[in-house]
Amino acid sequence: MKNNESNNIHRDLDGKVAIVTGAASGIGLAIAKLLEARGAFVVAEDINPTVNGVFKDNERIIPVVGDVATEQSAQEAVAIATERFGKLDILVNNAARIVYKNAIDMTLEEWNSIMDVTATGVFLHSREALKAMIPNKTGAIVNIGSYACYQTFPGISAYAAAKGALAQITRTLALEAIEHGIRVNAVGAGDVVTNLLNTFREDGRDFLAEHGKQAPIKRAAQPEEIAEVVAFLASDKASFLVGSIVMADGGMSVVIQ
Ligand SMILES: NC(=O)c1ccc[n+]([C@@H]2O[C@H](COP(=O)([O-])OP(=O)(O)OC[C@H]3O[C@@H](n4cnc5c(N)ncnc54)[C@H](O)[C@@H]3O)[C@@H](O)[C@H]2O)c1
Repeated sequence: MKNNESNNIHRDLDGKVAIVTGAASGIGLAIAKLLEARGAFVVAEDINPTVNGVFKDNERIIPVVGDVATEQSAQEAVAIATERFGKLDILVNNAARIVYKNAIDMTLEEWNSIMDVTATGVFLHSREALKAMIPNKTGAIVNIGSYACYQTFPGISAYAAAKGALAQITRTLALEAIEHGIRVNAVGAGDVVTNLLNTFREDGRDFLAEHGKQAPIKRAAQPEEIAEVVAFLASDKASFLVGSIVMADGGMSVVIQ
């Protein structure tokens, strides 16, 4: 392959404008960095103010502190993209939280907080993003799902319900958006070594690394491996993918344990 061709492959998001939610850590951070490296301008949204420090030296990534579960944050993220960069091409709905409790011990507040961030946040950001994308007749939305889009285990009823909802939001919005040239897809991530579980267990990263060994691939992923799938789905190379949940889980969802 000639150098030029190889460079083009790695700049296949040149000039695109993206919003990535939950971008301060883990998979969202890896996605924001990779989209920028492939040529995109990025609005990096997170409820954690550390997002400001994470991207402070990068002029092509604008951090914004916001709670994805609010209409105001969704509107603000889209406004920043269109006002600072002139348009919006890509939305990555990545922010999520997890509560690990059997349903009998879960409060209504805990249930609602997971649904608000992990399902309603996807709806709100997709709705506002579509308003900006439809006039341009192009765009891509990528939602970060999980094997919990399909499978579950005790203790994660709210999270699994939210990821199941995310899968159905993905399919339904895909049907509504494709007539406008906008593709909506999701990535079904397996175990990835991040801080996701740290809110309820100190050894969250070690647990994910260990749990990943149950997958046929016998390991957990690094965030960058999920970001690669997102970058592909966000790019024009994924031109025929509509409403797909692409499983990136080391085979976890295809094996009977
Ligand atoms: N780590 C895994 O094993 C795994 C597996 C499957 C799916 N996922 C999914 O990957 C995505 C990213 O998770 P991660 O593993 O990188 O976890 P993480 O905890 O490292 O990152 C999640 C980010 O979302 C942010 N966030 C949480 N609530 C928010 C809100 N209301 N508004 C804005 N930002 C908010 C957090 O501050 C954090 O920066 C999630 O959708 C998660 O469900 C993760």
